[in-house]
Amino acid sequence: MSTIAAALDPQSFNFITNLVRSKSAIVLESGKAYLVESRLSPVARELGLKNIAELVSELQKPGSQKLTQRVVEAMTTNETSFFRDIHPFTALKEKIIPNLIQRRAKEKSLSIWSNACSSGQEPYTIAMLIAEHFPILKDWKIRIISSDLSSQILDRARLGEFNQTEVNRGLPMNFLLKYFTKNEGQWKIRDEIRKMVEFRELNLVEPFPALLPAMDIVFLRNVLIYFSPETKSEILKKVHKVMHKDSYLFLGGSETTMNLNVRFEREQLGSAVCYRPT
Ligand SMILES: C[S@@+](CC[C@H](N)C(=O)[O-])C[C@H]1O[C@@H](n2cnc3c(N)ncnc32)[C@H](O)[C@@H]1O
Repeated sequence: MSTIAAALDPQSFNFITNLVRSKSAIVLESGKAYLVESRLSPVARELGLKNIAELVSELQKPGSQKLTQRVVEAMTTNETSFFRDIHPFTALKEKIIPNLIQRRAKEKSLSIWSNACSSGQEPYTIAMLIAEHFPILKDWKIRIISSDLSSQILDRARLGEFNQTEVNRGLPMNFLLKYFTKNEGQWKIRDEIRKMVEFRELNLVEPFPALLPAMDIVFLRNVLIYFSPETKSEILKKVHKVMHKDSYLFLGGSETTMNLNVRFEREQLGSAVCYRPT
């Protein structure tokens, strides 16, 4: 195996941070050189390149779109888990879905958007929760739209296969036994749940596709943290436009709409915090 030179030169670091920011809006601050090195050294090695400086040269050649996408995807953080931060899911089960069942009784339709969904634990959690607690929704039109920037991570999510460590994080045993089958050390989500979720590639900094339905519930968790305040504000304004007036937005535990000049009102639902469009 060839070795990769350890130090990342400032020019290569600047090139990578500008590239990643222009394609995904992810901001890599000056202290993040170690992250660039640890994420991109394996990419350079796989391509038979000596170091990240050589990878940067490849990225500057014409026709490097695929490599650019690979580099941007390698720089995303895909950390996620089933029932992550539990409170939003308790609020869904105890308050939000029961309320929406009453308010949408005529249309019999609900649209839920799991944004920046990574390997799929969040949308599958929503699908399992609906299957488990709301049999009344069986004859409704339920759309769980699930999107991410990374085509690679979406391929994983679509597959619906998780290792033992992943199912050990947050997934109750009764859900594991009821909604997964085990095959050669991997846990595969059952088709009835997998089919409830639609996956699509979507970059939050690009215009949203016109065909998105009006959303009743939006999960946009643990992704705004990577962006500048201006980008957060632009994204929240676009998300606001696709939400019903009486809908619900969930952000990650360390994220907020405060000081971003957007039209959302914070609402406490038990131990969960959600945001309502105003
Ligand atoms: C830390 S994960 C969050 C996963 C999940 N939402 C959760 O809270 O568990 C962040 C995800 O954001 C995605 N992401 C980063 N930049 C993005 C962008 N500009 N548009 C869409 N998704 C993006 C990454 O690919 C990654 O899968």
